[in-house]
Amino acid sequence: MHVYPYTITISSEKGGVGKTTLATNLAIYLKAMREDLPVTILSFDNHFTIDKMFELQKREDDTPDVHALLMGAKASEVVQVGQYGVGYIRSSTELGDIHERFKGPMTLTRMLAESGISGVVIIDTRPDLNILTQNALYAADRVLIPVKDLPSLENCKNIFALFDQRGIDKKSLALIPCLIDSRIKFDGIFKDQKTLLRAIAVNRGYRCLDSYISKSPKVESLNTNPDGKIYPILTHARGTEVHSQFMEITRDLLRSVDATKETRACLYHTWLLEKEAGKKESYLARLEGLAERCLICGALFTEHPEDRSFYFETSDRSARGFLHGNCVSNMLCSALYGLQENDATFDSARALVAEKITRSVSLLLPRIGFEASRLDYRQFSMVGEQLLQKNVEMPGFDAGEFNGVHNRLYLLLNEALAGFEGALRKESWLSVYPVDPANPEAVLHEDAYKIIHRLQKLFAEVVRQAI
Ligand SMILES: Nc1ncnc2c1ncn2[C@@H]1O[C@H](COP(=O)(O)OP(=O)(O)OP(=O)(O)O)[C@@H](O)[C@H]1O
Ligand SMILES: [Mg+2]
Ligand SMILES: [Zn+2]
Repeated sequence: MHVYPYTITISSEKGGVGKTTLATNLAIYLKAMREDLPVTILSFDNHFTIDKMFELQKREDDTPDVHALLMGAKASEVVQVGQYGVGYIRSSTELGDIHERFKGPMTLTRMLAESGISGVVIIDTRPDLNILTQNALYAADRVLIPVKDLPSLENCKNIFALFDQRGIDKKSLALIPCLIDSRIKFDGIFKDQKTLLRAIAVNRGYRCLDSYISKSPKVESLNTNPDGKIYPILTHARGTEVHSQFMEITRDLLRSVDATKETRACLYHTWLLEKEAGKKESYLARLEGLAERCLICGALFTEHPEDRSFYFETSDRSARGFLHGNCVSNMLCSALYGLQENDATFDSARALVAEKITRSVSLLLPRIGFEASRLDYRQFSMVGEQLLQKNVEMPGFDAGEFNGVHNRLYLLLNEALAGFEGALRKESWLSVYPVDPANPEAVLHEDAYKIIHRLQKLFAEVVRQAI
């Protein structure tokens, strides 16, 4: 069974509000309070706090890090077993070039979904809202935004605005008052820092956790040690208020982890898979029902798969398939210039035609009249601008006569557009698209086919006006 992580992102544009302290200690508390829950932590910052805290022994410099993860490395290659049973991914100083790759907002969600990481993933971010932070925000089942004062609260609005811009549900976002100095008391209803912050937050429509984290000199000292290590609150500051506050926050998060049946990674991945399956299905459906032969020369593609340089489709889509490059250019050279193959100028005229039609789409609209039949032939650019229109007289077409010059054209029209009793289907037409002969089927892939679909719709409109 595929596993998906529950993702917690710690984010704030303000520096020094306690993000990293919160992220690293949460990882330890989660693991301590739920031993069998895999916990993995990573940071998009370059201060290596995570490495200093969780590294069991000095790693080789080429051990895969966050950079490798973001470049698509497998989770099994990048997650290291660390102190306190917490898995961690080494930090990297070189995430600059990654920003380029992360134009889309959901790239990290997809990577986490495909990573095979289970349990909880905690992401510590930089004090900014760059594209990596944004990705971490959108990937999260829970975003914790530490606020310690009014300026940091002020900054939150940018995160909320990001979610609004993208139309993403903001229910994952929650503020948490941090570095609260309990000695500071106010007169009036907002009796202390956290009550004031919470009141303003709620007033602005931000969700705020009931828990908060106090400022503690003991906690502050955990960062500064002669051996360069950073100690956890759980092991080195148990006597503080902060310890019980972390227990409370962790309990709250575990409840949320337990209550989440489908995490963001899971939902997004399922959606992606369905979309992919849908694409494949329609691609396969488009492959189905292609004509087995080139309708001009009649050769089976199983026997002559080479030179499939054009794709045609009729207005009602009942006939679709490939045509040989040579067959199409010969046909149009005869039809447009009235030339036969043994005419002296045939080859040069055909080269001219061939050059044009590999860069444009041809629309063939037969107009069958009582007196005479003709073909309304047009060329369009790939973005649908009409480049050329020509009327081609089709003597004898209605009577089923062939006259040498137009044989190929008559064949194609009859094969593709035939209706009852030898007549063409009323108001039917067909269009001919250039394709890559090395991979003609690629034209039926979702993105390439979109262009055809758009042009077919445009041609239907053109024909409606012409008739
Ligand atoms: N509860 C606390 N009590 C006292 N000091 C704390 C507490 N939490 C964090 N600190 C101290 O505050 C400083 C900033 O904390 P931290 O590095 O966690 O913030 P940050 O938001 O990650 O900063 P940056 O934006 O630079 O990454 C550190 O020196 C840390 O030791
Ligand atoms: Mg930090
Ligand atoms: Zn052919």
